[in-house]
This record gives sequence, C-alpha cells and structure tokens, in this order.
Amino acid sequence: MDSFFNPASPGSEAIHHLFVQFLWIAGFVFLLVTGLVLYFSHRFRATPGDDREPRPLHGNRKLEIGILATVTGIMGIYLYLALQTMVSVQAAPAEGQQPDLVIIGHQWWWEARYPTSGAVAANEIHIPAGKKLLLEVSSADVIHDWWVPALGRKMDVFPGRKNQVWMEANEPGTYQGVCSEFCGAQHAWMRINVIAHSPEEFADWEQQQLKKAIVPQVSLAQQGADLFADKPCASCHRIEGTAAQADIGPNLTHLGSRKTLLSGMMDNTQENLKRWLAHPQKVKPGAHMPDFLFTDEELSALVAYLGSLK
Ligand code: CUA
Repeated sequence: MDSFFNPASPGSEAIHHLFVQFLWIAGFVFLLVTGLVLYFSHRFRATPGDDREPRPLHGNRKLEIGILATVTGIMGIYLYLALQTMVSVQAAPAEGQQPDLVIIGHQWWWEARYPTSGAVAANEIHIPAGKKLLLEVSSADVIHDWWVPALGRKMDVFPGRKNQVWMEANEPGTYQGVCSEFCGAQHAWMRINVIAHSPEEFADWEQQQLKKAIVPQVSLAQQGADLFADKPCASCHRIEGTAAQADIGPNLTHLGSRKTLLSGMMDNTQENLKRWLAHPQKVKPGAHMPDFLFTDEELSALVAYLGSLK
C-alpha cells in the first residue's frame, strides 16, 4: 500500500521520521502522566473511617516552575525537530530554477506538462526515478491539493497562484495519491498515479508522448476520427496531428496508452470508455463532459478511434 507509512522518497522519509519522533515523545508523556495518575490515586486513596479532607497544596513555586520548564522544553524539542524537517523537505529552489513538471488541477482531473520536452499527460504522471523534481502546481478552477504521500509533502493548489513542491521517487514503481482538498462533487475521484521509471524508460515514454496521434487504419476507427472532428469534441480536447486543438479537457493524443480513465476512476477498457461517452453525467455526475446523445454506432466508432490512440 502506498502511504505515508511507506515512504519512497527522501522528503517523505524525513516527514515519516519526524512523525515517529513525535510519537515516541508523546508516548512517553502519555505513559508518565497515566502512571502518575494511577500511582497517586492509589497512594492517596480514601481509607475506611478516615474522612479528613486532603491537605491542599498551592504556592509551590519550585513545582510550578519545574512543570512549566518541562512543558516548554518538550515543545521546544518539537519545534526544533519540525523546523529541521521543514528546511530539508521544502528547501527553496535556486533563483530562477524552472520547474521539471507543471501540474494543473481541474475539476476533476490532473493535467501534467513537461516544460523541457513539451510532453503533456493527464492523471498518470510519469517521472524518472532517483531525480529530485521541482513541481509547479496551480489550478484551472477551484482549490485542490496535491498529495502523493510516499513521494513527498502536500501542496495546496490555487487558481491564479503557482506553488512549488519537490517530488522524488527513490525507486521505479507506481505511487498513488489523492486530491486532498474538498473541491466539489467528484473530489473523491481526483486520484493521482505517479509512475516512476528508470531514466531510459522515462525518456522512451516521453518520446512516445511527443509523437502526433496515430492515423487510424481501420475503417471503424476512421469513422470515429471523423465523428470526433464533426461533433463538439474538438472544442474541448486536443489530439495532436488533427484539427482538435483545445485545452479545456484532457489531452487525448495518447489516451489509449493510459491505464485508467477519469482520474483513476476506472480501468481504461473499451466498455468503460463507451459507458462514459454514452452517459457522462451518470458515470461521473457534475463532470464538465456533456451528454452528446451519441447513437450506438457512433459510440462504437469513437471508442475504436480513441482506444487506438496509443
Ligand atoms: Cu480536487 Cu479535491
């Protein structure tokens, strides 16, 4: 399970380490206080026949200063450890350093842009393992929150503001994350999948993503391509190499190469894609994809086309 408890990056290791340190200190204080309460309630318990009031104790300056100093000392240790972790986890990037990855939150999906190469992805975010990446996160609509627990800290995602956060995966693998700020009806289906590759594999993936869309060879897929151009699809989506050049919805140039649909909501299968195109508002109510009342033949053609876009 990918979680905060299985850190897979230097940043989340530091945060996990801090959590464990806090837990030990808090555990010690808990046991000390509970132990003293039990001890005193036994030691000074009422005995039969003895109905004297206990002797009140106040104005013990030594005891008061001692308690205050202990509490302040513990809080001081917490503050020191927390600041130390913050400095290591959220070091300021070098002056003018360009982000490796630009993340844009949308209701309800994630857009990923790779500024160096120009590649664009959605929801499945591929990265090279073993490289500390600077992410720039912003939003196209409301406040979201970027969080892949195994790979680093959280970062709020605001419209009209660019926040920066580091992300690194020690090893290749798939790491799951979630939008962590309530952002509307489908907040729960705003999952993140980060796929970390060896540097060579990542370079291959990036090169593949930079290619223009496949020109369909099968007649059904060809019909789908024509439909895509004729229907309003192209006013929101982009498929490189075709007339569809809009950036409101996810870029579909390589939709067929993704494992999931709708921000991790379902597997990328023909049936699921068809269900989504047929009844978007039933599958993901509130999503900005309208219901176009496609006929069954139209749906089959569109699914054949979109699925072929590897
Ligand atoms: Cu986006 Cu919650």
